[in-house]
Amino acid sequence: MADLDGNQQEKKEKEYFTQVSQEAPGFFLKGSHQYDWGLKNRLSRVFNPKNGRTIMLAFDHGYFQGPATGLERVDQTILPLEPYCDCLMLTRGIQRAVIPASTQKAIALRASGGTSMARPDFLSDEVLACSIEDAIRLNASVLAVQVFIGSEHERNTIHNMVRLIDQANRYGIAVMGVVAVGTNMERTPKYFRMATRIMAELGCHMVKCYHTETEFETITSCCPVPIVIAGGKKRPELDALRMAYQACEQGASGVDMGRNIFQSDAPIPMMKAVRGVVHEGMKPEEAFDLYNTLKAEEGK
Ligand code: R5P
Repeated sequence: MADLDGNQQEKKEKEYFTQVSQEAPGFFLKGSHQYDWGLKNRLSRVFNPKNGRTIMLAFDHGYFQGPATGLERVDQTILPLEPYCDCLMLTRGIQRAVIPASTQKAIALRASGGTSMARPDFLSDEVLACSIEDAIRLNASVLAVQVFIGSEHERNTIHNMVRLIDQANRYGIAVMGVVAVGTNMERTPKYFRMATRIMAELGCHMVKCYHTETEFETITSCCPVPIVIAGGKKRPELDALRMAYQACEQGASGVDMGRNIFQSDAPIPMMKAVRGVVHEGMKPEEAFDLYNTLKAEEGK
């Protein structure tokens, strides 16, 4: 059954109601008001109940890249950032080996994998790479699964996601579908609207995708669960802060950011600046001033 998109008979415009918030009676988080207590509580550890936003620090890149730049020694580069985020997005290997079990931060556990940069053409051929029992042992609040919509392995990765949701729902753990964007895949608003909506329709509790230069508010508006944005490749700090700010203004529930923080010349100042725009109402320029001030104080 074709949508009206692409139909030469098309008459009706899409209406995304971007100015109207989706209601979540009695709970602070979009799409989450009818969940059971445990799942709501886990989501409340990830998203700040005061503003519904989160800063997830993403450093799971090693699951297919090995020691990515900035993550050669997670104990040296990431642990100092831990106090300033809301949630740690990581692999179970790093969690057990490096992260103190005394951490108070929520855990978003990478639960898919099975491919590597050694075979870039096969990156979409992922499987589920963590059992639900191990996720429980690791006290995960969220499980992250990569979904490659439009790729050769679209069906398998959607199946990974659906199976993970079924397992996680038994225990009140959230699942975050991650829109994977390979080198040959689209990065258009139309693609992200489709991909994020498919994930939500199939049961994801939250979705991660990239920010787009245009129409991002239509992506967040027609996705019935929270969207967080990935940072993507390292860009100048002010650009990254602008992106985080705009995304939140356009309906994102925060960031799941990695390289733009841990590859910064001054990661702790950058982390605090991101906090400024996501949680403290700072404009990007104001947060960039904070970054520069803190960086200067560090003597960098
Ligand atoms: C990539 O697949 C990883 O899962 C990262 O978590 C994700 O890309 C976010 O990190 P970054 O902000 O570096 O893009």
